[in-house]
Amino acid sequence: MAKAEQIIELLKSHISGDERRFYAIAMQVAAHEAQQGHEKLAQELKRLVDKAKDKRTVLTSAPSVVNIAHPKGELANLLSVEYPEIRFSQLTFSSAIKERIDRIILEQRQHHALAEYGLRPRRKILFYGPPGTGKTVTAAALAGELNLPLFTIRLDGLITKYMGETAGKLRLVFDAIRATRAVYFFDEFDAIGGDRALSNDVGEMRRILNSFLQFMEQDNSESLILAATNHVKLLDNALFRRFDDVIEYRLPDAEQIDKIIQNKLHNFKLDRINWKEIENASAGLSHAEITRACIEAAKQSILSDMPSISKKLLLDAIAERKHNSTVSNP
Ligand SMILES: Nc1ncnc2c1ncn2[C@@H]1O[C@H](COP(=O)(O)OP(=O)(O)OP(=O)(O)O)[C@@H](O)[C@H]1O
Ligand SMILES: [Mg+2]
Repeated sequence: MAKAEQIIELLKSHISGDERRFYAIAMQVAAHEAQQGHEKLAQELKRLVDKAKDKRTVLTSAPSVVNIAHPKGELANLLSVEYPEIRFSQLTFSSAIKERIDRIILEQRQHHALAEYGLRPRRKILFYGPPGTGKTVTAAALAGELNLPLFTIRLDGLITKYMGETAGKLRLVFDAIRATRAVYFFDEFDAIGGDRALSNDVGEMRRILNSFLQFMEQDNSESLILAATNHVKLLDNALFRRFDDVIEYRLPDAEQIDKIIQNKLHNFKLDRINWKEIENASAGLSHAEITRACIEAAKQSILSDMPSISKKLLLDAIAERKHNSTVSNP
């Protein structure tokens, strides 16, 4: 008989929707039974796992990744593809953001279970907030966690001087969204989603936004459609109800500041750091800027052969970031 721990692990992987782990544990059980001399039982388990895997391949390959894994022709100008390896455990977010993200991942992993009741997972998400707070990296980590390719829509390819072509190009992108289950990311989304009422260029930009709204509405695919912007106020109101969730990103608070630094410098020894002082110095900096200060401090300590990163080294690197950020955002 399978060990109780194996049954628990099987159930856990089933509940979290981690199919790969589920089958891996089932194969471990089969191996265990074979070792015990229960050859017939082991064979039966292996046969069932193989059959289930085959079935899943047929189901999931209907809209397949293969056909645009490397976008060709016109699509190559519109989409760039990555296979991110980053995971949320490497990033620092507020609990409010973490909860929303966990929910997206759970619903996605369990989309078959939801489908049995005619329900669909949330999959059209808008991220907004200041630069460097982790919007782009969230898109990558979602693709990483869900084991899907990340296609970023290239706005330079989409919005050309021949704006009349944009609606046709958007159609190609939405065709790809339907054909291949993946994460599709519209970064700097305000370029498309700008308020129709504010636009000077009434004709073309309005047409682009209208076609985007239409495509979003019609889209019933299994892909995730993510959009990010720094300027939520510029977005057209009609957009918000097309998204299943709208997530706000903010600058890190004191607790997050400590965590970003500890995560980033976990390979280094920190020498008598006064966290309160570090938090005060970092207030107003983004996740990206604090990460950058950590990298600079780490480089300095390596190059000057210091055994650890001192408080001064870290404070200097933070001050430098602060200086640079005030120069770029006076
Ligand atoms: N929450 C976070 N936790 C850890 N590191 C982060 C986080 N957010 C950002 N970073 C670091 O900063 C880099 C830049 O972040 P990212 O590009 O995701 O910001 P953004 O919100 O998309 O900014 P922008 O609005 O300018 O596009 C990341 O690659 C990562 O190294
Ligand atoms: Mg970004």
